[in-house]
Amino acid sequence: MAEDRIHHRFEFYSAQYARLGTDTAAEIWREVYGEDLGQQGWRTLDEQAQIAELIGTSSCDVLDIACGSGGPSLALVASTGCKLTGVDIEAPGIEYAQRLALERGLADRAHFVVCDCRNRLPFEDESFDFAVCIDAISHLGDRFAALSAWSRLLRPGGRLLFTDSVVLTLLAPDHRRQ
Ligand SMILES: C[S@@+](CC[C@H](N)C(=O)[O-])C[C@H]1O[C@@H](n2cnc3c(N)ncnc32)[C@H](O)[C@@H]1O
Repeated sequence: MAEDRIHHRFEFYSAQYARLGTDTAAEIWREVYGEDLGQQGWRTLDEQAQIAELIGTSSCDVLDIACGSGGPSLALVASTGCKLTGVDIEAPGIEYAQRLALERGLADRAHFVVCDCRNRLPFEDESFDFAVCIDAISHLGDRFAALSAWSRLLRPGGRLLFTDSVVLTLLAPDHRRQ
């Protein structure tokens, strides 16, 4: 039963990624965000610019955890010149990202790997300067375990940025609503 529920949750993104690149999808994204970055999260263009500013230099190795179909990741590569590795559980999203990287001439700086980010990520310790996870950490179970596991991948002085579209609260018994 629990496995069924998990399976259905992932079908949500498969369906989303199957629609990618259509004119209708692009029009909706432009209407909502002002530009079609191909994002599946809720980052605004200002937030995207802030992320690029934090990455800063072209010598930065970036890991984009649960990167989706690669549009925002490739926008970061194009604007900063960084090297980026994107990982996501959805094969159609990752295939789309790889195609886009080739089409945009960014395949030498960006590559994408199918990967279940609830598991240990298949990278050496201290492989990255910057890790980003946009609007996906709520899918990954124990977030403290995830954050701690990702810190292994960062070089000394490396930075991690995540956003969360889900706010979890836990009310202490004294504060429960009557
Ligand atoms: C709201 S979307 C955000 C995608 C991307 N970060 C963006 O901003 O466009 C959430 C993403 O989490 C991915 N995801 C969900 N569970 C995952 C898991 N266990 N491992 C890797 N990716 C996962 C989904 O496939 C989806 O691409």
